[in-house]
Amino acid sequence: MEHQEWATVVEAATRAPSIHNTQPWRFAATADRLDVSLDRDRALPVLDPTGRQQVISCGIAVEFAVVALAAAGRVSEVELLPDADDQDHLATIRVIADIEPTAEDRELAAAIDRRQTVRDPFQRRPVPVELLDRLQAEAGAFGCWFKPVTRSEEEVATVFLIDRAEELEQGDPAYLAELRSWVRTDPTAVDGVPVDAVPSGDPHQRPSNWSIRDFVVGTREHAAAQPADPGAPPPEVERPVVVLMGTDGDDRHAWVQSGRALARVLLQATVAGVAASPLTQALDWPATRSRMRTRLSLVGHPQMLLRMGYPAEGSTPARSGRRPVEDVLTRAPAD
Ligand SMILES: Cc1cc2nc3c(=O)[nH]c(=O)nc-3n(C[C@H](O)[C@H](O)[C@H](O)COP(=O)(O)O)c2cc1C
Repeated sequence: MEHQEWATVVEAATRAPSIHNTQPWRFAATADRLDVSLDRDRALPVLDPTGRQQVISCGIAVEFAVVALAAAGRVSEVELLPDADDQDHLATIRVIADIEPTAEDRELAAAIDRRQTVRDPFQRRPVPVELLDRLQAEAGAFGCWFKPVTRSEEEVATVFLIDRAEELEQGDPAYLAELRSWVRTDPTAVDGVPVDAVPSGDPHQRPSNWSIRDFVVGTREHAAAQPADPGAPPPEVERPVVVLMGTDGDDRHAWVQSGRALARVLLQATVAGVAASPLTQALDWPATRSRMRTRLSLVGHPQMLLRMGYPAEGSTPARSGRRPVEDVLTRAPAD
């Protein structure tokens, strides 16, 4: 493939969601191969000391590249962790054949650009069971389980652990300093989470059991609380679907596969008009992550907690930026 064609594929790959929009990836292309590596310069040592969530983010980028290749008529195969001496080299994607893309290939690739993390409350309209079954099958193809949190005792335990983790995080100055270093007020920023992409209100005040991550904790004192209108109807309580995704193992292989599964889940959901936002606070901390395993009797390791639903009419969060392709893609020496 020409370098320009790889640049187009990498541009699609970089639309992948990543923890705090750190975009912790590097790409190197030869004629028939794209190598994807973890970029340790973009690490989150407090929130993600093992790099688990960043490797998941890179796994999403790998699969977005595969989807973009398929829509361009390129069949590819992915080799995970191809270099035993370099565990940051997460995947090699090889083009092995050309084929006429299907309508579904094109539809999925078109969803890459439309997908966004939507943190605003969703409509109360339920996500169809058939779609959840489909997403479960997509995740299963990568060896990942996909489990909607439906039983009330599971929901209570999960909500409790998210709130507990959020409280721990908000009490940790190192976590707050790291978070602030990735929040952006400049709408043209090429990385980090734009303040306009996160709801301005206090996550604890919103009518939902599920607390989204508070990206602007401690900066809200100027937003004077509006006195409640005594005649106003009670706010509608949001009832998103929340799904837990996980793997039997908990190593780099499992993390990349979790990312690839998540990529397919997010794109298929986008095609169906369903949006998502991760709620990973409880998985940041080893203590709350392992309590989630025991409280929900999970076999294996939780990797991702995802809130899903139909976005409210007219809800268009600010788009988060991406670094230019030339900053993340190099030409690798041919073999
Ligand atoms: C592994 C992972 C964990 C994430 N955790 C959270 C989270 O806890 N809360 C949240 O609001 N967004 C979370 N996100 C979403 C990112 O903040 C988001 O993908 C990034 O800011 C880019 O925005 P976009 O998805 O709209 O392109 C997570 C994303 C990934 C890949």
